[in-house]
Amino acid sequence: MKIRRLANEERPSTSWRLQEYAFERSPMPPEQAAKLREYLPYHEGNVTLVVQDGAETLAAVSMIPMRQNVRGTVHTMAGVSGVVSHPLARRQGHIRTLLTQLLGELRDEGYAVSALYPFRPSFYGRFGYAALPHPRTVSFSPADLGGWLRADLPGELRWQRIRDGYDTHRGFTERLLASRHGFSLLPDYRDVQRREDDKRWIVSARHDGEVVGAVTYTIDGHGGTLHADDLLTVSPLGRALLLQFFARHVDQVARISTVVAPDETPELWSTDLATHTESRLSFPSSVAPMARLLSLDALHGLSTAPGRVRVDIVDDPFVAGSYLLDGADGRLEVTRGSGSGSAATSASPPTATLTAAGISALAYGVLDPDELPLRGFGTVPREAAAELRALFPRAVPYLFSDF
Ligand SMILES: CC(C)(COP(=O)(O)OP(=O)(O)OC[C@H]1O[C@@H](n2cnc3c(N)ncnc32)[C@H](O)[C@@H]1OP(=O)(O)O)[C@@H](O)C(=O)NCCC(=O)NCCS
Repeated sequence: MKIRRLANEERPSTSWRLQEYAFERSPMPPEQAAKLREYLPYHEGNVTLVVQDGAETLAAVSMIPMRQNVRGTVHTMAGVSGVVSHPLARRQGHIRTLLTQLLGELRDEGYAVSALYPFRPSFYGRFGYAALPHPRTVSFSPADLGGWLRADLPGELRWQRIRDGYDTHRGFTERLLASRHGFSLLPDYRDVQRREDDKRWIVSARHDGEVVGAVTYTIDGHGGTLHADDLLTVSPLGRALLLQFFARHVDQVARISTVVAPDETPELWSTDLATHTESRLSFPSSVAPMARLLSLDALHGLSTAPGRVRVDIVDDPFVAGSYLLDGADGRLEVTRGSGSGSAATSASPPTATLTAAGISALAYGVLDPDELPLRGFGTVPREAAAELRALFPRAVPYLFSDF
């Protein structure tokens, strides 16, 4: 049995065979299978490791080279996908071996963080991933937005097919990548599939020559639903312009649904707006993302409140070790090893013992230090919890990219 990295053109006959079986309606009709090669350009930069026994592929894991904002800094992110094993080779440890090797190689290549959409969170919890919040889907009647029809808003709208408006949307998501915690972006070669498929409308809102909001969407028929993807805005005006656009569909669709960040409050968007907001999880197909640090270097230089703590990270092949986290100067300094840092601050700091999922949950802002022991993510004495809380205040990551 051997483990190797695939060349792009090998995918259809190896990893994609397993993926078709696991994730598609199967068996796949031969004519559909024959067309798969057309999708190879959208995978050209992905890294895939497979376990092979002779000509038979037993398991595969893939990584999409992405970028992600973690507390204001944009990092290289390994977007893990295509995790699959042969139905006759499951529960033999192949995925554990492959994923451990892949993440180790990527960490050595400089990837600071990794994220994925799990089929079951407990599976990836064993690999150090922490759960992130699920985006919300909000739906409402366009009739409830009637007030916006009469509003005299500055700015303008542009309405296009995605093939024409793709660059606007991509440019706007680049801007959000730079500013929004948790936001992640696919590489160009993959993202461009949305332009080439041309299956969506895009409406963008501009003010003073700048894009302040954009959303892509489809409509399923007259009297039906306008299904919007993520409602992306950088200002209340951007959102108001997009809501005004939705309001103009009052005689065309019965409902509008759109995806919003986990900390969004659609019930406050407008007076007399009856919203239904939900975040429905079910396994394996409707899942919230997970993420982890592959290196604590990702935390270095973070803008933070003063705090000083030692963390001993255990049970992890990538980040295990002892680290001093010092935010004395408003910037987090991460020092590996058991020393106590600069002479000026040589007093022994409190120490927490954390799993990789525990430190990742703090870095992404999704758990309070007091929750970590309750969830089996470490031991956090009260003094260490106070320091960790100062360094890693709660935050709401919004992953955005679906992959
Ligand atoms: C999920 C899947 C990839 C697991 O592959 P596998 O080859 O059985 O995985 P491994 O044998 O390497 O198991 C890795 C670990 O996960 C555990 N595990 C396996 N299936 C699990 C499950 N359904 N839930 C929780 N843990 C599970 C194993 O016990 C093992 O733990 P250990 O190493 O601590 O002993 C495989 O069942 C599959 O292809 N399923 C269909 C496709 C799919 O859902 N892929 C995941 C997409 S995110």
